[in-house]
Amino acid sequence: MSRVEVAPSLLSADFGYLMRDIKSVENSCSKLHIDVMDGHFVPNLSFGIPVIRSIRKYTDLIFDVHLMITNPDEFIETFVKAGADRITFHIECTEDPKALADKIHSFGKKAGIAIHPDTPVEKLFPYLPYIDNILIMSVYPGFGGQGYMKEATGRIRAVRDELDRIGSDADLSVDGGINIKTCREVAGAGCNVLVAGSAVFDKEDPASGVREILECVSQ
Ligand code: DX5
Ligand code: ZN
Repeated sequence: MSRVEVAPSLLSADFGYLMRDIKSVENSCSKLHIDVMDGHFVPNLSFGIPVIRSIRKYTDLIFDVHLMITNPDEFIETFVKAGADRITFHIECTEDPKALADKIHSFGKKAGIAIHPDTPVEKLFPYLPYIDNILIMSVYPGFGGQGYMKEATGRIRAVRDELDRIGSDADLSVDGGINIKTCREVAGAGCNVLVAGSAVFDKEDPASGVREILECVSQ
């Protein structure tokens, strides 16, 4: 398995001290997970383009943008211009995931597909050869701080098996309820990017939250 990393999820940061919190994890991760919500696909709103454009000026972290919006196709160029490095859209929000991935690639950016807990993982399989990241939701999308859904473990394993079968080195990311209690199970099932919000930013020292997870996984 490729090396496991933690991608801190900005949703759990203190928005009043956004750059302070981003700087606090800069040396312990390479990717920042950025949740964009529209109040339609998920019952919540987060932040969007102006915030991403602003923080882009102050950090070189890879911006891994998780779009929880019903119409991702309409916003790809805007997110690219705002500074996204990788754009992950939900399979439930497009009729043609391959075309959307192609569009993201046409801007020279990486493309990912996220999947809601209620969508069968097999729906992803036809698109795996064309994408750089798979994001398995292990909570119902929309809020940080929820508990890990046990059913996710088998889904991670199924996608890992399929990635191995086709010889893909795409990232397999898991999002929701990742902490020191759940990370070993998730990594053991084949995930290599552990997205963690509250387990990182609820700490006084967010970098220690990243470290704790990585230590747990390596035990
Ligand atoms: C939820 C978001 C997650 C969220 C995870 O819809 O996609 O990225 O921030 O938060 P935790 O790690 O607290 O479950
Ligand atoms: Zn997310």
